[in-house]
Amino acid sequence: METSGRRKFLRNTLALAATATLGTNALAAATLKGGKKKEPANNQDGNVAYAFAQIALPYAYNALEPHIDALTMDIHYTKHHATYVKNVNEAIVAEKVTYTTPEEFFSNATKLSAKIRNNAGGAWNHNFFWENLAPAKGQAPTGKLLEAINGSFGSLDKFKEEFAKAGTGRFGSGWAWLVDNNGKLEIGSTPNQDNPLFEDSAFKGKPLLGLDVWEHAYYLHYQNKRPDYITAWWNVVNWDTVAKRLG
Ligand SMILES: [Fe+2]
Repeated sequence: METSGRRKFLRNTLALAATATLGTNALAAATLKGGKKKEPANNQDGNVAYAFAQIALPYAYNALEPHIDALTMDIHYTKHHATYVKNVNEAIVAEKVTYTTPEEFFSNATKLSAKIRNNAGGAWNHNFFWENLAPAKGQAPTGKLLEAINGSFGSLDKFKEEFAKAGTGRFGSGWAWLVDNNGKLEIGSTPNQDNPLFEDSAFKGKPLLGLDVWEHAYYLHYQNKRPDYITAWWNVVNWDTVAKRLG
């Protein structure tokens, strides 16, 4: 068999093995890995269901150093995030769930199994997180976003102080968020892999900025010093993304 034919054979064999192991929905997610576009996929009964997928990381694992180290980024993306995506897609097939958008999952959070709830949140939250990070270049919010921050919190420094408090004050694992709540910016946090779009979240709104405060996000470099991780994290916030989300 010539080289290109062998490659094709191997690719087809691996695809068939993946289908047998994971089901069509998970395979659809695997196929979509690396692309931003996420399309509904058919589950095993032919029902249309959403397949979660990882976005391609918009920068190299070491691009956020020294603020977030390459090994943490590598493990966070290839192990933690990838596992949430794999688990949620397997559960969507196994439980025959037919929601077609992430928002539909989250607005029906109380009806979801713990496996789907936690892993759907983990899959979506991490895509959101990767996109609101960028290599440190002295970036800062400007224009309408800065005006909104100043209007809601008094100043950028005050906003950062309040946001850091939400991150350090979240007991155990969870997320800190900046949201747009009907035109007003608000800061809060959610436990585990919940987010402000969840039906039963105590803190709600349209997410603009998310900070992962699970230990897996910082422990290799910062150990128990979550406040130091948050202080460094400000250097790698992608304010352009936050501004676009604000609209
Ligand atoms: Fe995480």
